[in-house]
Amino acid sequence: MRTILYPGSFDPVTNGHIDVALRASSIFDRVVIAVAANAEKSPLFTTEERMELLRSACRDVRNIEISHFNGLLVNALEKFDASAVIRGLRAVSDFEYEFQMALMNRGLNEKCETLFMMPSPEYSYVSSRLIKEIAKCGGDVSSFVPPVVAEAMRRKFGRAS
Ligand code: PNS
Repeated sequence: MRTILYPGSFDPVTNGHIDVALRASSIFDRVVIAVAANAEKSPLFTTEERMELLRSACRDVRNIEISHFNGLLVNALEKFDASAVIRGLRAVSDFEYEFQMALMNRGLNEKCETLFMMPSPEYSYVSSRLIKEIAKCGGDVSSFVPPVVAEAMRRKFGRAS
């Protein structure tokens, strides 16, 4: 049984994240999507809310599990009994940060391998940061996020988004 760990802030999960998770689920036996509970100091959604949105968005995929972790990613890898970490690479601009993180994680634990997957090009410009900015300003984010997330954004900002 090969488990892959897909960590991130997922604040909130976007269609790009889901695309990567689905691709991973078609290759690996088990995909654990793990929300980093302490990655950002003031996330828009709580850890539990982010997990619930992920659960709703992935509920039809039998080999995807939703969880969370505190502290270092290399420790989470062992906790979830995962063989490697998977991360999405949208564009060259993601590369430097991801490269640094992958090698730093390997420096902390030489068994920590990171695999990269490219989401579909239609999601190459979608980011959680921009989704929050657009929703906050009253824009429509429904083409970029699962319906349950669009609804949660509407509730969060108290108007159509
Ligand atoms: O979705 P994000 O914000 O790009 O995810 C980044 C995340 C959560 C994967 C990264 O910040 C992380 O692994 N945080 C856990 C703490 C840790 O291990 N930091 C050292 C990374 S080299």
